[in-house]
Amino acid sequence: MISRISDLADHVGKEVTIQGWMYNKRGSGKIYFLQLRDGSGFAQAVVSVDSVSVEVMAKADKLQMESSCKVTGMATKHPKFDDVFELQVTDIEIVQIPPEEYPISKKEHGPDFLLDNRHLWLRSSKQWAIQRVRDIIISAVYDYFHREGFIKIDTPILTPNACEGATTLFEINYFDEATLYLSQSGQLYLEAATMAVGRAFDFGPTFRAEKSKTKRHLTEFWMMDAEAAYVEHEENLKIQENMVVFIVERCLEKCAKELKILERNIEPLRKIKVPFKRLTYTEAIEELHKKGSDIKFGEDLGNDDEVLLTRDSEAPVFIHKWPKAIKPFYMKTDPANPELVLNDDLIGTEGSGELIGGSQREDDYEVLKAAIEKEGLKGPEYQWYLDLRKYGGVPHSGFGLGLERMVRFVCGFEHIREAIPFPRMLSRFRP
Ligand code: 4AD
Ligand code: MG
Repeated sequence: MISRISDLADHVGKEVTIQGWMYNKRGSGKIYFLQLRDGSGFAQAVVSVDSVSVEVMAKADKLQMESSCKVTGMATKHPKFDDVFELQVTDIEIVQIPPEEYPISKKEHGPDFLLDNRHLWLRSSKQWAIQRVRDIIISAVYDYFHREGFIKIDTPILTPNACEGATTLFEINYFDEATLYLSQSGQLYLEAATMAVGRAFDFGPTFRAEKSKTKRHLTEFWMMDAEAAYVEHEENLKIQENMVVFIVERCLEKCAKELKILERNIEPLRKIKVPFKRLTYTEAIEELHKKGSDIKFGEDLGNDDEVLLTRDSEAPVFIHKWPKAIKPFYMKTDPANPELVLNDDLIGTEGSGELIGGSQREDDYEVLKAAIEKEGLKGPEYQWYLDLRKYGGVPHSGFGLGLERMVRFVCGFEHIREAIPFPRMLSRFRP
């Protein structure tokens, strides 16, 4: 019977076949310990001269790193560890032996070498664990939004307009007929959809021609935008913090093994509870001054500022109501102060930086029209967006979660490039 490694617990005492790859091997001559992986997990297979034929022993000897193979044997529980299962081998079928030595060995490799070999590096246990956490986060997002009455609406990737400012657009020559751009965020289209279905979310690739070489910027990343009609600023924050807690709890529940492989200290994740601290931008600047920063009112927060603001918190921190001058055109002006907007950035703890950007949307036709003109955007391309304020406009709010930022936050690693299978960055677009 064929078993996946993840199901070995159900087959203890029975003979099963694992179809996978050998990622490591110890021993020689009389006994081999094969480290097998099959995509669902990792397991040790013991090949002993006492229990297999000479031919099988010879096959075990022949197997090398990343040879593909089918290994049959009795499933047993590890004598010491509760959730570890092994195979006492009776037979081996070799599927393929690599003609050359596998390029990624146990020894230390530099990040460039590993990125050049990303197609193979993905097989290593840490990368495997990260991709599984990513998958759990994606499904948690779907589950959270469906529970909250949002439906998924797909937004276009090729767009004639900019959502997040003209400086980070990737241009596409569309049959010599128009210049289109790769979407920076599905938000504007999601607003249209929300007026049809009330609450909507999307999840797709987004693109930013970011010239910044940082540990948190990709040029292609996955974003979940959410949008809800009749939701105002305060409620928007609640939807965001509840979502973050939902995702983190799901990861703690489903990814214990993966987080262990990643050597992630899960204590900080366990402590994340609602409500998250809320600081207005104005309060944040005051707090930063007290903490010795020389940031000026009206400037964007830098990495160091974000660390200072979240240092004493156990959960991510909302910085809300930013100066209008440094935020996109669509954010609603704060009725209490026309220089500010009803927006928020959610800043993660442990130096993880911005996880979410959100806002209440400007719903006044004339105010929005003026903001579009002031930004120097291509007016006609935004007429449909203005129409949403003309025909049954309502207060509405939404936000965008960067998937890779969230993966990085949950897994607790340094560089965002690890959070996506094939990272696209300023100087990296292969393989
Ligand atoms: O803050 P941003 O730019 O907001 C928007 O695009 C809104 N239109 C979203 C909305 O309201 N529906 O981006 C949202 C999130 C950020 O908080 C960050 O997590 C992530 O997307 N992000 C990036 N992730 C990786 N690389 C980049 N270059 C990113 N830029 C933004
Ligand atoms: Mg932002």
